Amino acid sequence: MEIIHVAAECYPVAKAGGLGDVVGALPKYQNKLGHFAKVVMPMYRTRFLLQNEWELVHEGGQNLGQSFFHYSVIKEKTNKLGFDLFLIDIKGLLDREKIYGYDDDSERFVAFQIATCDWISKWNHRPDIIHVHDYHAGLIPFMMKHCPAFSNLSLIPSVLTIHNAQYQGWMGWDKSYLLPAYDDWKWGMLDWKNNINPLASAVKCAWKVNTVSYSYMDELKLSANGLENLFEYEKGKCIGILNGIDNEVWDPETDEHLIKNFSVENFEKGKRKNKKELCKQFGLDIEKPLFTFIGRLVGEKAADILPEAISSSVYQHQGNCNFLILGSGDPEVEVQLENLKHLLSGYVSTYIGYSEPLSHIMYAGADFLLMPSRVEPCGLNQMYALRYGTIPIVRNVGGLRDTVVDYGDWQGFGIRFDNASVWDITYSVGRAIDLYFNKREQMNQMISFMMGIDHSWETSAQQYISLYQALK
Ligand code: ADP
Ligand code: GLC
Repeated sequence: MEIIHVAAECYPVAKAGGLGDVVGALPKYQNKLGHFAKVVMPMYRTRFLLQNEWELVHEGGQNLGQSFFHYSVIKEKTNKLGFDLFLIDIKGLLDREKIYGYDDDSERFVAFQIATCDWISKWNHRPDIIHVHDYHAGLIPFMMKHCPAFSNLSLIPSVLTIHNAQYQGWMGWDKSYLLPAYDDWKWGMLDWKNNINPLASAVKCAWKVNTVSYSYMDELKLSANGLENLFEYEKGKCIGILNGIDNEVWDPETDEHLIKNFSVENFEKGKRKNKKELCKQFGLDIEKPLFTFIGRLVGEKAADILPEAISSSVYQHQGNCNFLILGSGDPEVEVQLENLKHLLSGYVSTYIGYSEPLSHIMYAGADFLLMPSRVEPCGLNQMYALRYGTIPIVRNVGGLRDTVVDYGDWQGFGIRFDNASVWDITYSVGRAIDLYFNKREQMNQMISFMMGIDHSWETSAQQYISLYQALK
């Protein structure tokens, strides 16, 4: 099958979070299964763009409201990512360093989607599936079905994967002039609560919809940032497919970012070497259990309660723990964490910012990874942690619930708690400290077990293929 993935992120071209990891891996594994999966994304001005070779495959033009824009499509020449990668360039809109966060994001992503549809509609053949990811590509199923300009795409099945339903890309109806001409009777397919809502539109118009874990699909019917009724209504075409991880990128035996590579055979030594480097670099004590947090410092991840939870843990557990936080986001949380680093120096350290290499060393060198998320559609960090022998401490939600079993339960290997609260985190840190100092043998058995858990993409990639096949 020929599958076209359309997304705002794709690792290693441009990544802000797990969406990038998934779009950089799923197509590769679909191709390994004998298919032709390709990725179309905006051409931001990233390092990957400058460091690779490209060929021009198409040039075209379309309208965004009253103004005409010119776009070009380039393709990476060597297929080094394991799939054909196409970037769409629109001068003045997509030629920026960052992926998101501009005042004109609505215009940018609408133009990207128009260009994508325009280009594909000019092909001499039709792909088998158009697979869109999150709201940035969410207007495409509508455009394919209801915009006369793209009518030759109307019979191609479209699939929407929801990585995060918190962000929906709302815009007022005053922006409807940005869209290509569409069948006026179908305006309701764009609308949710008197706004144009690209995510809701995709849920209505795509042939199939999936979330990135089973539990998140159920949770959306109860809490979906205003879309609960829509998910209840459309449940017939919605399913959950758990994300995988790219075992080629995330392999402690070969990961080039690590100070020392290791496997399940020698994890104790290997992890300690990585921990030693982290402790040296961040002024922490190698003899104490090292707790880490890696991620966006936002409410969804419960980052706002982290500073208090960390200080409460350090005090309540008599300083028998160290914390290292890597992330950026809410400026207030960033300041609180920086203050804590000075106040509890020797116990707490931070790296405010984004660092792919450091994240790898942290997955390898830490003893425990904290994920108190309020919402977690899937979560990849906990799966990376498992593979790198770092015990996840997670809230009982979404994909965390689907991938981590508490060590108190049968065949358990992690720590799970119910509430995103300072008390629950402090208590769970206490359980982890007890494991570390008093139950080392049990802890090592858990590590051996979890390093062998298979979360590779093979299974999930096949599940997506079965989903597409059911649409043909
Ligand atoms: P989300 O997509 O909601 O942010 P995921 O758990 O799916 O959460 O994926 C997060 C991805 O982003 C992981 O690959 C994680 O290692 C990475 N990541 C998040 N924040 C940072 C950071 N500050 N530095 C390096 N990597 C980060
Ligand atoms: C989103 C979710 C995260 C998920 C990722 C990849 O960013 O917040 O839970 O793992 O997408 O699907």
